[in-house]
Amino acid sequence: MTALNDANPSPLASLDQWEDDLLTRYPEPEHKAKEDYRNYDNPERDTVREFYRLNHTYQTYDFVLEKEREFLSFDKKELPVWGAMEFLNTLVDDSDPDTDLDQLQHLLQTAEAIRADGHPDWFVLTGFLHDMGKVLCLFGEPQWAVVGDTFPVGCAHSDRVVYPEYFANNPDSRDERYNTKYGVYEPNCGLRNVHMSWGHDEYLYQMMKNYMPEPALYMMRYHSFYAQHREEAYSHLMDEHDHKMFEWVRKFNPYDLYSKSPKPPVVSELKPYYEDLIAKYLPATLKL
Ligand SMILES: [Fe+2]
Ligand SMILES: [Fe+2]
Repeated sequence: MTALNDANPSPLASLDQWEDDLLTRYPEPEHKAKEDYRNYDNPERDTVREFYRLNHTYQTYDFVLEKEREFLSFDKKELPVWGAMEFLNTLVDDSDPDTDLDQLQHLLQTAEAIRADGHPDWFVLTGFLHDMGKVLCLFGEPQWAVVGDTFPVGCAHSDRVVYPEYFANNPDSRDERYNTKYGVYEPNCGLRNVHMSWGHDEYLYQMMKNYMPEPALYMMRYHSFYAQHREEAYSHLMDEHDHKMFEWVRKFNPYDLYSKSPKPPVVSELKPYYEDLIAKYLPATLKL
């Protein structure tokens, strides 16, 4: 495996810094970006850039296959869904506690915004679950292997992935098996045949694949794939079915990015509704 020798593998003060940065890159249409995205003098931007440097350097095809072997056996822990959420919420957040919501609050706000728009209950449940894969952090995984925009591995990196210049450090960029347009894949082979950079999306998808309807699974699996759902950089790997399902991924994205409100949801009031929803679709306990 790749030798890791970077001094600080977790440059972000909290996982939210990545999501706050997404909001700067993709501001709500009616709002202007708070600052120019290419404003490199912002120290918070520097930590995000350092985060992507690590992510783009170390997310290789071999690294992804190794993580799939390590985590898709789901032999680390077994918890009820709500217990897994409480476990996720033990993630230490170093950022300002006055302005930042914890993980469970982000999930509830996302889900409540979906519910308020009258979408089906499995869509609401998807909003509630979509970041549960971040428990990977609690198994000691570095930030760059849990969050961040995802991208296909095993084929050429698109320059429409954020900070594409850092792919020059990735050994796959010099490996002729992996550095052509299609690499190890066939044209329009369908994303189900494509390995994505490892993180909380794929991990949650694999955990949920037997329980949730297909549009929900696409939303979970590709919600961080901004290079496709926002930039359409990898259509050459997608089939017709993927394109249809990506309408759901795009429908989900604004709820993830734009539902943050400083008013924290009252967990105790919402818990019974979500416990019922969990019981309707998911088994009593989940293997992590
Ligand atoms: Fe996420
Ligand atoms: Fe999220």
